[in-house]
Amino acid sequence: MSYYKDTLCIISLLSCLFITSSFAGPVPNVENSSQKLIPTQISSRDTKASSSSTVKGLRERPPSSYSIKLESFNTLMKSTYTERYESRPFRVGRYNWTLIVYPKGNKNDNGTRYISLYVAIDNSTLVSPGQVVPADLRFYVFNKKQKKYFTIQDSDVWQFNVDNTMLGFPRVLPLATFNNLKNGYLYDTDRCEFGVDVIIPPLFEKSELFTVNKSFPNSRFTWFIQGFSTLPSDYLSEEFTIGGKSWNLRVFRNGFGAHEGKNLSLYLNLGPQELLKAKPYDKIYVRAKLRVPNQGQSNYVLERPIDNWFSPQNIGWGYADFMALSDLRDPAKGFVRHDMLVVQVEMEAISSTKYLPS
Ligand SMILES: *[C@@H]1O[C@H](CO)[C@@H](O)[C@H](O)[C@H]1NC(C)=O
Ligand SMILES: *[C@@H]1O[C@H](CO)[C@@H](O)[C@H](O)[C@H]1NC(C)=O
Ligand SMILES: *[C@@H]1O[C@H](CO)[C@@H](O)[C@H](O)[C@H]1NC(C)=O
Ligand SMILES: *[C@@H]1O[C@H](CO)[C@@H](O)[C@H](O)[C@H]1NC(C)=O
Ligand SMILES: *[C@@H]1O[C@H](CO)[C@@H](O)[C@H](O)[C@H]1NC(C)=O
Ligand SMILES: *[C@@H]1O[C@H](CO)[C@@H](O)[C@H](O)[C@H]1NC(C)=O
Repeated sequence: MSYYKDTLCIISLLSCLFITSSFAGPVPNVENSSQKLIPTQISSRDTKASSSSTVKGLRERPPSSYSIKLESFNTLMKSTYTERYESRPFRVGRYNWTLIVYPKGNKNDNGTRYISLYVAIDNSTLVSPGQVVPADLRFYVFNKKQKKYFTIQDSDVWQFNVDNTMLGFPRVLPLATFNNLKNGYLYDTDRCEFGVDVIIPPLFEKSELFTVNKSFPNSRFTWFIQGFSTLPSDYLSEEFTIGGKSWNLRVFRNGFGAHEGKNLSLYLNLGPQELLKAKPYDKIYVRAKLRVPNQGQSNYVLERPIDNWFSPQNIGWGYADFMALSDLRDPAKGFVRHDMLVVQVEMEAISSTKYLPS
């Protein structure tokens, strides 16, 4: 009894739909007229790049644009008049859309024996005939057993226009799979849910371009530190420019922090001019060599690498334990001569990032 009432209810709803779509009234000849039911502009393929691919999966989160719950799916299945169920319009962007379900598949789009799902754009909401509306579509079929939505989408964006107002997937799920109650798509014998996300993706307006420069006219800066034994314990070089950016070397002649009294500490710092220009999110990749050459007979150079990101939060990188003070102070080793220490940096790579708009 209640089943029968249900049926009546759906049928009147459907005849209503017929009238609002291009149907003038009841259809006398089922076979022939069912052809006329199908809108002519249907393609899931010819407006897509061939390299695009279909992605299927499961998700818990319900659809964001629209959902259709059908409590009488079998009635639709058995109806000879009904090719498709179309939702009321919903708004996304400046356009009106409808979600369309073909419970037996859209045979004009090779969807026979599959569930077909489409969205259609209301062409009266297009502002000009030549307008193209790009949209990302994700279709949903609820699976009660998994308590998740089966989803299907394409890697490429869909292009709606006056000639392509209905786009989607003719083969979302085989009917054999969908109709088998064990699979959980149809539940409580007769219920199911379909949904869609229609997302009109804006094009980015902000961007950044990261490049690394590896060739500089002068890649080295050499610092001759005279009067080494009388220096302040924390001593900065003059500011120098390499790769279009300003830098300092910083030396702690008696060691920094825990290394005080043990090691010479040596750092490469972003120069004051660079820090003035720097935005909080700026970062500069640097590959360099820090060196202390031996001024004696041997050409020995003590060298240690820098391979770091400099930023307003990390303005300097180097070594608290660049070398042992005992080696530095040993006249026989020749690192300090005539009370002069030589420190050098050789830049190998410096990045710069251009922000658009700046
Ligand atoms: C469908 O219509 C054509 C004419 O357009 C007619 O010849 C044919 O018999 C019709 N088919 C059925 C099943 O009524
Ligand atoms: C678009 O849909 C909304 C309801 O979602 C409706 O109020 C509005 O009139 C529709 N616009 C057009 C142009 O059909
Ligand atoms: C349906 O599939 C057949 C063969 O697979 C193909 O020749 C035909 O073009 C397809 N039709 C549509 C509308 O895609
Ligand atoms: C919009 O679609 C309707 C129904 O499909 C059609 O009659 C009308 O000509 C279309 N309008 C434009 C501007 O294409
Ligand atoms: C690298 O930096 C130098 C010095 O600033 C500059 O002249 C050159 O154009 C830069 N090269 C690239 C590829 O950015
Ligand atoms: C730092 O100093 C200590 C103590 O003199 C020494 O053992 C160590 O080798 C030094 N580190 C480096 C990297 O020379």
